[in-house]
Amino acid sequence: MRITVLTGAGISAESGLATFRASDGLWENHRIEDVASPDGFARDPALVHQFYNERRKNAAAAVPNAAHQALARLAERHDLTLITQNVDDLHERAGSAKVIHMHGSLNRARCTSCNLTWAAPPQMSVDMPCPACAARTIRPDIVWFGEMPFHLEQIWVALEQADLFAAIGTSGNVYPAAGFAQHAARNGAHCVELNLQDSATSRDFDDHIRGPASLTVPAWVDSLGS
Ligand code: APR
Repeated sequence: MRITVLTGAGISAESGLATFRASDGLWENHRIEDVASPDGFARDPALVHQFYNERRKNAAAAVPNAAHQALARLAERHDLTLITQNVDDLHERAGSAKVIHMHGSLNRARCTSCNLTWAAPPQMSVDMPCPACAARTIRPDIVWFGEMPFHLEQIWVALEQADLFAAIGTSGNVYPAAGFAQHAARNGAHCVELNLQDSATSRDFDDHIRGPASLTVPAWVDSLGS
């Protein structure tokens, strides 16, 4: 069976990483326009690096949970396309070999002068030179608000080919990811939402599995058999 899965911050919550829109979420403590927009980076790059250095440190200290591990097992049994909005590497560290990071990765840096991307150091700063052109204009290789997500062509194809689409731990607030279930359903996929609670797009799903991902995802994966 061809399965396409989209994960959001909720799958990493039980690994101790903050989500965005919970009461203690990242967007409660930081203004998106300051730390996750091109204008914010142009205005105060040091603040942006500080925000992502903190998230990079937390992600490095986090451990993949049973939900990440279950999706790695799923890829051994079915034709799985795993898409994540998350910028942590918990899927990879749980054993998922192919992960589509549509919002980029904390572990990648990009030069805004020559566009080189490379493995980001644990702490980045405004005075770090680009390894290729030496310009001091490096940024996290993360998609900010107002920028185009990565790998969309590949994602649309995976949604159109899926027999089954699952969204795990995402609030359905940010497009284009919030429109993935509708796109998959229009192409014949059965859609299931795994979340603690209803999301902004719950109506787009055929089934709803409620509970913490570390419990619901392993049970769901086991229910799919091989
Ligand atoms: N198990 C399952 N779901 C959970 C858990 C859990 N343990 N904890 C939280 N959730 C769910 C919440 O109910 C919520 O629906 O995870 C979702 C988290 O929502 P958001 O914080 O909005 O995160 P996400 O949907 O990934 O945000 C999407 O928005 O800000 C941008 O680029 C950012 O990639 C992010 C995008």
